[in-house]
Amino acid sequence: MIRLENIHQTYPGPSGPVQALRGIDLHVPQGQIFGVIGRSGAGKSSLVRTINLLNRPTSGRVRVAGQDLTAMPDAQLRQARQGIGMVFQHFNLLASRTVYDNVALPLELAGMDAAAIRTRVMPLLDLVGLAALRERYPAQISGGQKQRVGIARALANRPQVLLSDEATSALDPETTRAILALLQQVNREFGLTVVLITHQMQVIKQIAQQVAVIDAGRIVEQGAVLEVFTRPQHATTRSLLDEVTPQALPESVLARLRSQLQGLPAGEACVLRIAFAGDAVADQPLLSELVRRFGVDLSVVHGQMDEIQGQPYGALALLLRGAPSSLGEAVAYLRGAGVSVQEVSDV
Ligand SMILES: Nc1ncnc2c1ncn2[C@@H]1O[C@H](COP(=O)(O)OP(=O)(O)OP(=O)(O)O)[C@@H](O)[C@H]1O
Ligand SMILES: [Mg+2]
Repeated sequence: MIRLENIHQTYPGPSGPVQALRGIDLHVPQGQIFGVIGRSGAGKSSLVRTINLLNRPTSGRVRVAGQDLTAMPDAQLRQARQGIGMVFQHFNLLASRTVYDNVALPLELAGMDAAAIRTRVMPLLDLVGLAALRERYPAQISGGQKQRVGIARALANRPQVLLSDEATSALDPETTRAILALLQQVNREFGLTVVLITHQMQVIKQIAQQVAVIDAGRIVEQGAVLEVFTRPQHATTRSLLDEVTPQALPESVLARLRSQLQGLPAGEACVLRIAFAGDAVADQPLLSELVRRFGVDLSVVHGQMDEIQGQPYGALALLLRGAPSSLGEAVAYLRGAGVSVQEVSDV
């Protein structure tokens, strides 16, 4: 649906050019909720704004729905942009217009008459739950309600693509969940392709199907959310994941482990961090199998279980005790069962 090919974006800066995007290749399949995550300054806004050419990239090609936007004359580009809605972190509503008139604005700009606008806007206000507040002004509604207006406005032209640049960053966690649920609903009901920019893994976890990690203007990792959460490859991904699944053990747990390990002969104990995802793994009695098959002793020293897209997902820290050969076999068994296993060496 969306293809970015070798996108570079360079801005002029006081101390020389700033290379915000350095060769981005990205494919967002139709109908997906595709997350792009990165730290502040990584290039996320630059990236998402190239998709509708709000920023024209310095070089590279942007294709949306089979059309090359970068090669279009202005009039055709304006037309193509109607197929791409966008929501913003700070909502960007017009303070002098009511809720209704904010949602109606893109339709007025497209030259639609008042009656047609009304039949388009009213169902959208119902969809986002704001029909009763339609005569209020932006200053008279909450942040979450403002973002609902932003979403309704973005949908007014019936786009195929919805771009969201940190749409929930200014909202509290509960309102964030509600707005994300609304984005998920429009993705399902209208088959919209959603590109979701965020700096929070929590947001990715709640609704994205695929995720790309951007760091210093480059995509450093991408894949299915479950896969990336379970087997992060890049240091930036691991550090961003820390927010939802701490990658390191808390100091109190490490201290307790240290004192337990002190009394044990070298090689007869190890600490493992295991991460797993999917029914196949969660449904098997893996840990009791370890004890039965390899005669190791096992304690769970830390961990959490969660769910992504209805799939179980978790990370546990285990202290294993047993003969060195049994420990090796136990680790191999876990890996064979599709569990990601890391030995914790900094105990
Ligand atoms: N119009 C501009 N002129 C000059 N430099 C810019 C411009 N826009 C962005 N930059 C620079 O490009 C880099 C990427 O910025 P961008 O806004 O894309 O990052 P971001 O990932 O969206 O950050 P944030 O999470 O803070 O919104 C930064 O170094 C930024 O300072
Ligand atoms: Mg930004």
